[in-house]
Amino acid sequence: MKKSLMISLMVVALVCVFALPAVIAGNAAPDQITITAPEGVKATKTPVDFPHKMHADSGIDCLVCHHKDESKDAVKSCAAEGCHVDASKAAKKKPEGFYQAFHNKKSKTSCLGCHKAEKKAGNKKAPVSCKACHPKK
Ligand code: HEC
Ligand code: HEC
Ligand code: HEC
Repeated sequence: MKKSLMISLMVVALVCVFALPAVIAGNAAPDQITITAPEGVKATKTPVDFPHKMHADSGIDCLVCHHKDESKDAVKSCAAEGCHVDASKAAKKKPEGFYQAFHNKKSKTSCLGCHKAEKKAGNKKAPVSCKACHPKK
């Protein structure tokens, strides 16, 4: 009994490890994405749980957020080559830097920019506080 439970758990774990990246690598819109600092960058904040499907289902066009992509079948990640790759301190204030992809208050394509505009328009469900997106460890 115990042994078969172990085996089932291992199978589930393996499916998660191998099947999830496959879903993300394809161009189906993933349901939920945990966004982390790029490799090699020492994160100062906790990773962000992003309800991706909820956003797409709420009527925001794919190409609002994936604003440099030409079709929704060819979307890339924010920190893809040629996009918001630079996570250095020097690039923190640059619109094309990694930080501003998510926090640019002047752009409605960034998390914080859109949420601030939503808040201003009276929608209290779009979080704007640091700890709402980066919960304490
Ligand atoms: C609407 C969601 C959201 C809000 C609100 C938000 N962030 Fe972020 N932040 C992100 C996302 C997404 C990333 C990219 C993923 C990551 O690096 O964790 C990020 C990355 C960062 C990074 C770079 C990575 C790191 O860990 O050092 C810093 C610094 C940061 N945020 C600070 C803040 C601060 C300070 C606030 C409050 C003023 C804030 N964030 C509010 C979504 C948000
Ligand atoms: C509210 C903004 C927003 C909307 C709307 C949105 N996405 Fe995304 N999408 C993101 C973010 C942010 C990521 C994570 C990028 C990262 O990891 O850097 C992402 C990631 C993805 C990925 C994985 C890309 C990769 O290479 O990691 C795919 C595929 C994708 N989205 C497809 C879609 C499609 C198709 C739609 C429309 C049905 C859509 N997205 C709508 C913001 C959005
Ligand atoms: C173009 C607008 C737009 C962008 C860009 C956007 N959001 Fe949102 N987000 C919304 C709206 C609108 C809501 C509130 C949905 C509702 O009314 O229920 C929301 C809600 C949320 C919530 C709360 C979900 C809940 O269940 O309470 C989180 C977390 C969130 N967004 C994270 C992010 C992150 C992280 C990013 C950037 C990677 C991002 N959003 C980018 C419009 C946006």
